[in-house]
Amino acid sequence: MKVMTIFGTRPEAIKMAPVIKALRFGTGKLDVKVVVTGQHREMLDQVLCFFGIVPDHDLSIMRHGQTLTDITCRVLQGLEKVLIWESPDVVLVHGDTTTTFAASLAAFYQRIAVGHVEAGLRSHNMYNPFPEELNRCLTSSLATYHFAPTDLAVSNLIAEGIHSSRIFLTGNTVIDALLGTVKEDYVFQNPVLRDIDFTQERIILVTTHRRENWGQPMERIFRAVRQLVADFRDVRIIFPVHKNPQIRRLAQTVLGGLPRVSLIEPPAYEEFANLMARSYFLLTDSGGLQEEAPSLGKPVLVLRDTTERPEGVDAGTALLVGTDTQAIIDQATLLLTDKNVYTDMAQAPNPYGDGQAAQRIAKILWEGRQDFKAAP
Ligand code: UD1
Repeated sequence: MKVMTIFGTRPEAIKMAPVIKALRFGTGKLDVKVVVTGQHREMLDQVLCFFGIVPDHDLSIMRHGQTLTDITCRVLQGLEKVLIWESPDVVLVHGDTTTTFAASLAAFYQRIAVGHVEAGLRSHNMYNPFPEELNRCLTSSLATYHFAPTDLAVSNLIAEGIHSSRIFLTGNTVIDALLGTVKEDYVFQNPVLRDIDFTQERIILVTTHRRENWGQPMERIFRAVRQLVADFRDVRIIFPVHKNPQIRRLAQTVLGGLPRVSLIEPPAYEEFANLMARSYFLLTDSGGLQEEAPSLGKPVLVLRDTTERPEGVDAGTALLVGTDTQAIIDQATLLLTDKNVYTDMAQAPNPYGDGQAAQRIAKILWEGRQDFKAAP
């Protein structure tokens, strides 16, 4: 059986890497082809390099300032030839990016079965996160096999009429990737990080990239960050700034040159995971970090109004604070000043998995291989 994994951005690569490894080297080895769309370039290549993945095909679609239409069209056109040439039995996609949706559609056009890893997340708001919520709903419609990370994701899919025989509860592969990457004696490559005395300063790790936060919401977030660093002398902000030029300009304008604010290049995955492990807490609009941080005992203040990952909020490890400057300052101040609040969040159990998700996915594909071949 030939399985083709298709992905294009940094987070997809991190979460697909353990799946590729399990498919290639697990109990029953499968013929695995790796295709990257290159929706991200530098950020994707860093992850491929760390996990030692060499793609069989690279569509190299990224253009600076690419629109959603650009990405969709280039992925669809680029994949047609690859899918016809390789003729896989199953295509595996991950999550909710435009690569995910367009790759699923391209596979559907060739009548190839799609397996969706990290299926069933829902915010129930089509415009938030945009366009990810619709990307994942459309991918669910196109997929034949749904690998759901949590019970809630399973119920979301069932509520949409997907037959339970096609849904597999696996846990989230992000935990598989994380365990084994964080090391107590890790030495940072970036001199800014290497010079920090983590016993003297409390690090707030900040990341923002979501489209619905571009412009004013992001400016409000940055103002809150500026205030926090002024209020707390032992706090240092580490902000790996996304490659998107719009975000870079704004971050530089509001936060550039401030004492104890370090705007750094997005670190490679290993460096980032170890930085997270040594941070005090996270301020982020990312989805993946909401899953990773609880495994490391780090509270997360989520800079969004909705989340498709309410499991973390319910477990008490994450809190939705939105993008209002004062609300962010208030919650962050509470975490910095009230030890009990901090400990409750830091010690909440991780609802996202046990590090065995990729093995489960590989096993399901291996055991069901006749069925998978016959699929659509
Ligand atoms: C994409 C995904 C989002 C995911 C995020 C993770 C979509 C619509 N969005 O958002 O779901 O959470 O990736 O980061 O699929 N750029 C570079 N080099 C890189 C990467 C990006 O220069 O390695 C710049 C380019 O100018 C690009 C811009 O960043 O135009 C935006 O990248 P894009 O993939 O379009 O959207 P993201 O915001 O990264």
